[in-house]
Amino acid sequence: MQEKIIILDFGSQTTQLIARRLRELDTFCEILPYNKFPVGDPDVIGVILAGSPYSVYDPEAFKVDLNQFMGRMPVLGICYGAQFISHTLGGRVEPADSREYGRANLTTIDTQCPLFKGFEPNSQVWMSHGDTITALPDGFRCVASTDKVRFAAYEAEGQHVYGVQFHPEVFHSLQGTQLLRNFVVDICGGHQTWSAANFVEATVQELKEQIGQDRVILGLSGGVDSSVAAVLLNRAIGKQLTCIFVDHGMLRKNEFRNVMRDYECLGLNVIGVDASEKFFKDLEGVTEPEKKRKIIGRDFVEVFDAEAKKITDAKWLAQGTIYPDRIESLNITGKVIKSHHNVGGLPEEMHLSLCEPLKWLFKDEVRRVGRQLGMPEHLITRHPFPGPGLAVRILGAITPEKVRILQDADDIFIQGLRDWGLYDQVWQAGAILLSDVRSVGVMGDERTYENPVALRAVTSTDAMTADWAHLPYDFLAQVSNSIINKVRGVNRVCYDISSKPPSTIEWE
Ligand code: XMP
Repeated sequence: MQEKIIILDFGSQTTQLIARRLRELDTFCEILPYNKFPVGDPDVIGVILAGSPYSVYDPEAFKVDLNQFMGRMPVLGICYGAQFISHTLGGRVEPADSREYGRANLTTIDTQCPLFKGFEPNSQVWMSHGDTITALPDGFRCVASTDKVRFAAYEAEGQHVYGVQFHPEVFHSLQGTQLLRNFVVDICGGHQTWSAANFVEATVQELKEQIGQDRVILGLSGGVDSSVAAVLLNRAIGKQLTCIFVDHGMLRKNEFRNVMRDYECLGLNVIGVDASEKFFKDLEGVTEPEKKRKIIGRDFVEVFDAEAKKITDAKWLAQGTIYPDRIESLNITGKVIKSHHNVGGLPEEMHLSLCEPLKWLFKDEVRRVGRQLGMPEHLITRHPFPGPGLAVRILGAITPEKVRILQDADDIFIQGLRDWGLYDQVWQAGAILLSDVRSVGVMGDERTYENPVALRAVTSTDAMTADWAHLPYDFLAQVSNSIINKVRGVNRVCYDISSKPPSTIEWE
């Protein structure tokens, strides 16, 4: 049994954060659309109703039948969730005089209420709501207030129903994690058994049962997710797993060789396919970024398929899909805006079933699992790298020579980040070749007329937003000198100081 908390999604942007916090509390949880509560699932020990962009009075507001879980397990409503419960059970919800937004302090707290165990007086919370609860249903009592919000939190005595109008999941609610722990551990009776070690043990066992004696194919990219998925599967089924690593010719300098060596050291059964010639040929003269992506995507599937078909008795295709890739989040029209991406282009007749051993994990959990599996740190902490590789970092048409120039410049930059102890402080870094731009320089007594290279390094937590990394000037000066002196064809280095938005991380 894997005990779990269900988080019902009503379209709020902070729903994923609730899941992150619960996982940090070593508690397994699933985010499900508001109308998909798994009635009858014996593993569910509690339910959280999350926030929503709607008011309970909006005709389109998402509604859930509380009888599915009330009285059967503890319930916590957060923001809209709290208002929805109160409104449905006979309380009153009204537009607030002014929108309650930002920091607030809980001026009264009932520390007898198990939700607030350990809370300090005046604990800071984060509010974000337009409506407010003005009367509680019968049998409910107020357990916390702020200056402006009388019913900041409530409890339905004896029914294990709780509601908070603030957001415990956000960083600015300073004791928010304590509140969630109180709910999960004390109120729901959770055992906090979700750990990397338990995950590995349980998943290896499940994979053995699921796959039996079948053969599995997995596409490796050199990135963290597919590598951890491969090592996990290797532990479960060993040589029944065949990994395929395609070199499209636009990887980093020596990346194909180094990563192949890493994989072999990890005992993986890997087929490395050097298909760079095909990719370069098909990309000849192509300058439009989306066209580059399409060609690379199509060629990749072709090469992968051709290799995979040689393994005639394969029954499974494994992928390193992780949880954020598949969470179905609702936009305010109720449509799914991000749905589970599926096998890209594998021919139907291969009849492969999908195996996604990391599908419940967040990125940092994948890294913890990688460490648990004894993988080397440099594989686990590797920066993200786009699938089309350096193709989207060469502005203009791609040639092997331009790739070589960019690989050399990029290698100096990345190695420099490692040498200066800066690599782990940035989310992602790389060099960009402005191959259609030339500028004048002077080297020795000679005039040069060559391309500039831009350096990009960003800080981020999820690549959705990013800031340019404030790298030390001395470091940038050294990297710039080194690139101009050592990389033929480059006579100028710039540093990209744009954030995302409005820019993106990649230039193309
Ligand atoms: P942007 O440029 O959109 O990038 O800010 C966000 C993150 O996604 C990566 N990225 C890609 N990854 N195929 C990938 O596998 C792609 O076509 C692609 N484009 C961008 C990018 O490196 C960053 O981590």
